[in-house]
Amino acid sequence: MIEVCPLSELGPGDAVRVGSDPPIAVFHTEDGQVFAIDDTCSHQDASLADGWLEGCAVECPLHTSRFDLRSGRVDAPPAKKPVRTHRVEVVDGVIRVEMSTAPPNLPPSMAPREVVGRS
Ligand code: FES
Repeated sequence: MIEVCPLSELGPGDAVRVGSDPPIAVFHTEDGQVFAIDDTCSHQDASLADGWLEGCAVECPLHTSRFDLRSGRVDAPPAKKPVRTHRVEVVDGVIRVEMSTAPPNLPPSMAPREVVGRS
């Protein structure tokens, strides 16, 4: 589990970027729910923690793709691939995140490059 911060330090409507690898964005919605998704948009290299939170969705600050925080699903293009969601728990007032073990949908500019050997 990754310890993020006390819930009291993340007000409703706020988001924080966790410097994990890859980074995670944690959101505290206006109605008091806490969600964690991959921070990097699946379209290009933009931080979703810098996006606009509306209900249970975040809009990417670069090209306005919208992701559902509950599922990671894309609700508005141009992004096509979902982002991962991560399990969140609040223990003794502290937000903790368990990173998904699924492979992330990083944008092409950030995806690990395949090394092709020559023989
Ligand atoms: S970088 Fe997010 S929609 Fe383009």
